[in-house]
Amino acid sequence: MSRMKGKVAIITGAGSGIGRAGAEIFAREGAKVAVVEVDAEGGKTTVDTIRAAGGEARFIATDVTDEAAVERAVAETLEAYGRLDVLYNNAGGMTPDDGSITDMPIDGFWSALKRNLFGTFLCCRFAIPHIVAAGGGSVINTGSIYAIQGHPRSVGYSTSKGGVIALTRALAAEYGTANVRVNCISPGMVRTPRVEMLIRDKPGVAKNIVRYLLGTVETEEIGNLALFLASDESRHLSGVNIPFDSAGRSAPSAYQ
Ligand SMILES: NC(=O)c1ccc[n+]([C@@H]2O[C@H](COP(=O)([O-])OP(=O)(O)OC[C@H]3O[C@@H](n4cnc5c(N)ncnc54)[C@H](O)[C@@H]3O)[C@@H](O)[C@H]2O)c1
Repeated sequence: MSRMKGKVAIITGAGSGIGRAGAEIFAREGAKVAVVEVDAEGGKTTVDTIRAAGGEARFIATDVTDEAAVERAVAETLEAYGRLDVLYNNAGGMTPDDGSITDMPIDGFWSALKRNLFGTFLCCRFAIPHIVAAGGGSVINTGSIYAIQGHPRSVGYSTSKGGVIALTRALAAEYGTANVRVNCISPGMVRTPRVEMLIRDKPGVAKNIVRYLLGTVETEEIGNLALFLASDESRHLSGVNIPFDSAGRSAPSAYQ
């Protein structure tokens, strides 16, 4: 119950799904958690749940693609909790105007990059100096299986998540001597409420579950890996991308 005792963590997109599970797990392990989230209702619900269980968290309304808002969110975290040890960049997801390279609107490419890659870039830019000032810590980024394995009709999302993995390695190299570790989790299919809905409503999505030899992943399982990466237990691990699924890297995409 104390693997994060005394640590302060920012978790972006913690108002839903994977981020919410991570926030609850970090808080249960003693971290003070800044729930940095664009959706006020989701963010406040996460904070209420953590507080009801005796943990410490606060909601900071933030769009991670807005430079001034991210700078403010980091400053507010420092003001409230006095230090910063962990940045978990989880906010992101697919964008509605993504698709095939010849058919998608040109702007669809930029909206995917903005949501997933630029948001991660901004949070790292403003948070890492404070992690350095705290004597070191951990940054956890969120990639996707789409960045590792080819998936048709998701050009923007796949490219943006590939960029997140490259950014992870670059920052790990740059900040290793400052004792800041930077790693990435790349999930396959995780059973968030949104994914549950897709499985229910889209037969193509349900069919693809068979690709995952050991089944789909629960949000708490990603949260537990994030906890390991955030805690001192992983102090010699940096610059890695960890795919979290059981599809097998050599399998051709069943999304064809
Ligand atoms: N669920 C999966 O199967 C899966 C698979 C691979 C990767 N991922 C990645 O995991 C992360 C979390 O996904 P999830 O499935 O839990 O999604 P989700 O939609 O349940 O949660 C994402 C949260 O991020 C927030 N968010 C989105 N854009 C934001 C912004 N600009 N600023 C602040 N907050 C923002 C949303 O409001 C939401 O609360 C995403 O980066 C996603 O790409 C998910």
